[in-house]
Amino acid sequence: EDAPPTVFGLPLKFVSLVTLAVQNAALSIVMHYSRVSTPPSQSYSPASAVLLNEILKGSISFGIALWRLSKSELSIPALLYVVQNSLQFVAISNLPVATFQVTYQMKILTTAAFSVLLLRRRLSSTKWVSLFFLAIGVAIVQIQTSTSALSPQKINVPVGSAHESAPLYLHIMSPLKGFGAVTAACFTSGLAGVYFEMVLKNSKADLWVRNVQLSLFSLVPALVPVLYSPSVSNSRGFADLLKNFGGWAWATVAIQVFGGLITAIVIKYSDNILKGFATSLSIILSFLASVFLFNFSITPSFLIGSSTVLIATWLYNQPAGKEPTILVNVVNG
Ligand code: C5P
Repeated sequence: EDAPPTVFGLPLKFVSLVTLAVQNAALSIVMHYSRVSTPPSQSYSPASAVLLNEILKGSISFGIALWRLSKSELSIPALLYVVQNSLQFVAISNLPVATFQVTYQMKILTTAAFSVLLLRRRLSSTKWVSLFFLAIGVAIVQIQTSTSALSPQKINVPVGSAHESAPLYLHIMSPLKGFGAVTAACFTSGLAGVYFEMVLKNSKADLWVRNVQLSLFSLVPALVPVLYSPSVSNSRGFADLLKNFGGWAWATVAIQVFGGLITAIVIKYSDNILKGFATSLSIILSFLASVFLFNFSITPSFLIGSSTVLIATWLYNQPAGKEPTILVNVVNG
């Protein structure tokens, strides 16, 4: 059991009782004076006072709860996720879609590495090889789907529309900056995911309680750049927070929110490595859907890439000791 809390060396039990006595005396006097010292026409509204009382108490309790929680391990993944979510914007603005998606696959490997380091998960050489092939396979699939279907040149902008001179064409990309950002994001993704998994699986607390804590800790680092951005420092202040926030911006945020919630559930009921397999397989599924829906044609590189992904998935899930002998020989020299 914890020792009873103290304030300046005195037990909190006695300090709180004495403080309550003083507060009660002060309240009667101040409250009475506040009501009778002004003519009724200039009196304040008791309803407003009751409401303000609750708002202020709530804010103070919230602040104290946050401060006490700061000892929680969740402040680390919260900060990492905020950094990652910002890096993602830097990366996507400075790289072509294909390059971004391909490089971002390296998070499969960083995630595995952090799972070994933090969760003491043991991965056989076969599992490492399959993870490596998984990353390569996804890269092959994405290089060809993204360049054929998603490159900006293919997006038709109707003449005369508001987007006619959209930055899609004018935006100057800085690949070095983009690569730096996506590489860093792979590390924060792996570390934050595994850290969250560790906290979740080492305690009995409910997933949604953990999610609330994660969000609360994210608020502080997420607020900093908003407060320091030029649009908020000017006279219009927070009114400009949602300036230019159109349909595409809301769609981006909505998809990220959905992704965050699904990610949390996947980490709870599976693990971060299996999460990598799920997203990899989804890439194949979405390509196949495009074949049926939009008449995409299946290319040789799609076949090579997706076969690599499927073989890697199969290999990763082979029970220990049952791996194909050829591979075991190759891996073990
Ligand atoms: O890199 P990865 O695909 O794992 O990205 C995870 C995303 O899910 C991040 O945007 C992160 O903010 C979000 N997330 C979340 N709640 C969790 C775990 C992750 O919102 N419990």
